[in-house]
Amino acid sequence: MYERSIAPSILSADFARLGAEVAEVAEVVPTIHVDVMDGHYVPNITLGHPVVASLRRATDRVLDCHLMITDPATYAPQLVELGADHVTFHPEVEDDPLALIHRLRDQGASVGVAIKPAHPLAMVTELLAHVDLLLVMTVEPGFGGQAFLPEAVGKVTEAVTWRARHHAEFRIQVDGGIAPATVATAAAAGAEVLVAGSAVFGAPDRPAAVRELLALAEAAGGDA
Ligand code: DX5
Ligand code: ZN
Repeated sequence: MYERSIAPSILSADFARLGAEVAEVAEVVPTIHVDVMDGHYVPNITLGHPVVASLRRATDRVLDCHLMITDPATYAPQLVELGADHVTFHPEVEDDPLALIHRLRDQGASVGVAIKPAHPLAMVTELLAHVDLLLVMTVEPGFGGQAFLPEAVGKVTEAVTWRARHHAEFRIQVDGGIAPATVATAAAAGAEVLVAGSAVFGAPDRPAAVRELLALAEAAGGDA
């Protein structure tokens, strides 16, 4: 149904040479995944507005901002202003997630909602007809380099079924612990966008790591 792709997460890149790190993978991916953490929603702080603005100047790839923050209604529109093409937020922190989705779309961005490992798909089904992407977290959000949680994959299968039944059009993204050993499981379940941080930026040859993950995902079959 959708093209399969790898979205490298810059969380595992060397932030002191971020432009060069992004340039290294840009030729083999459509999307760069940017993890914004505020030290409140998750116990970690990463990056924010100035880095997104700099990335916008440094690359023409799609900037996919994954907001792990408690106040997306304030900051997501600002990040779109600065050049984010896509924003995913965790909707349980928002009083009116649908209003935020519409606001971001009115700004011209595409929008996703995310569910943590403990969250059932039912938590977001009323939003799924209105978004471009569902992010199924396959680790607890907050840090790169954690082990993939296979029990989260059932929600990918469930989302594929829900999407077909409701004629919805969102893409399904997985994020956390995606590596050569796990990518096929997520792809076979129907995940189309596979975020990978340490498996890409921890590899000596990043484009080769991306190509390997993509080949494994494509070989795995699944809904995409
Ligand atoms: C975790 C972030 C992920 C992270 C993935 O909270 O949302 O995007 O960078 O890192 P890996 O691929 O190393 O698990
Ligand atoms: Zn992420």
